[in-house]
Amino acid sequence: MSSELSSPSFEDLARPQALTQPIYEPGKPIDDVARDLGLDPATIIKLASNENPLGPSPAAVEAGRRAMGEIRLYPDGGCCELRRRLADRFELKPEEIILGNGSNEIIELLGHVFLEPGDEVVMGTPAFVVYKLVTLLFGARPVEVDLVDHRHDLGRMADAVTGRTKLIFLPSPNNPTGTANSQEEIEALVRSLPDSVVFVLDEAYAEYLERPADFRPLIAAGHKVVCMRTFSKIFGLAGLRVGYAYGSVELIALLNRVRQPFNLNAVAQASALAALDDGDHLERCRLSNREGLAQIAEGFKHLGLEFIPSVANFVTVRVGDGRGCFQVLQEAGVIVRPMEGYGMADWIRVSVGTREENDRFLAELEKLTGSAR
Ligand SMILES: Cc1ncc(COP(=O)(O)O)c(C=O)c1O
Repeated sequence: MSSELSSPSFEDLARPQALTQPIYEPGKPIDDVARDLGLDPATIIKLASNENPLGPSPAAVEAGRRAMGEIRLYPDGGCCELRRRLADRFELKPEEIILGNGSNEIIELLGHVFLEPGDEVVMGTPAFVVYKLVTLLFGARPVEVDLVDHRHDLGRMADAVTGRTKLIFLPSPNNPTGTANSQEEIEALVRSLPDSVVFVLDEAYAEYLERPADFRPLIAAGHKVVCMRTFSKIFGLAGLRVGYAYGSVELIALLNRVRQPFNLNAVAQASALAALDDGDHLERCRLSNREGLAQIAEGFKHLGLEFIPSVANFVTVRVGDGRGCFQVLQEAGVIVRPMEGYGMADWIRVSVGTREENDRFLAELEKLTGSAR
């Protein structure tokens, strides 16, 4: 008994970074909210995780169903077909592309390859929180550069680079602000970086842009750039977890070295392939999002609320007490995202929904902000 008492606990055995690792707070699932609040799940709308309100292409759903028939087999560990198709689409070689279990996994793979205790990682704040989480997980130091007017200030980011900097993360458009940096600005930053820094461009929302930037020439010219994209947003496959990155053959080979052999399941691979083929659906989603952004912006103007004009599929708006607003909306069956985790306690972030969902969100918000005045 006494020897049991003196034995080390799991925490005693854990890596120090595991003990201090902050915990990611995801958007609440509809069923959890329904259970907690005694609501009918069918009446709840989730506008909390920048998902696609139109869902995936029906062809992607069908392809996933078909792939279910073969799930006793391991998936293609190299995602060969999907890499080939993405390579065709981007006019790259398949060896220049890697698939991840969401682009979150790619961020972690970058940590596995590049980060050691003492290294620094430059990132904006507020920006997508997973850059910081992965940096801390590997014992490296996040160097956070304040956004200016809700946009990444690339000059300040360049100034934050030191001899210890290994990675720079730039999401464009950024989450949670919905702002983007221009191709020219980003290129100028990349060209100013020392050779010892890897620049990571996170293009999770690029397909929503009128004209997404193109960094393939920089990669081809030998700059240390890697671009990440995802099927979670405009392709509507968030639940299947499919992200990818493209970069030099050398960099992609390193990322492959540290990834698990079957990181992307067979259903996800099949659905993503079919989703790529449905250009009409993509265009419908783009148009619906554009209309939704305008509708929500109009609604905020009507309510006299400050908001950050967005080029992505979500908008961040100043409501006073973000957590309180989130709670009241949630009780009304509308799930949004409070922003105190991003240092924006006065704000909430709302994902663009269907026209009806946006109307319902705005109506509930009006009740709330109207009664607060
Ligand atoms: C900027 C940004 N990058 C990456 C991701 C993660 O995407 P995935 O679902 O591919 O892991 C998100 C998700 O919200 C995001 O906002």
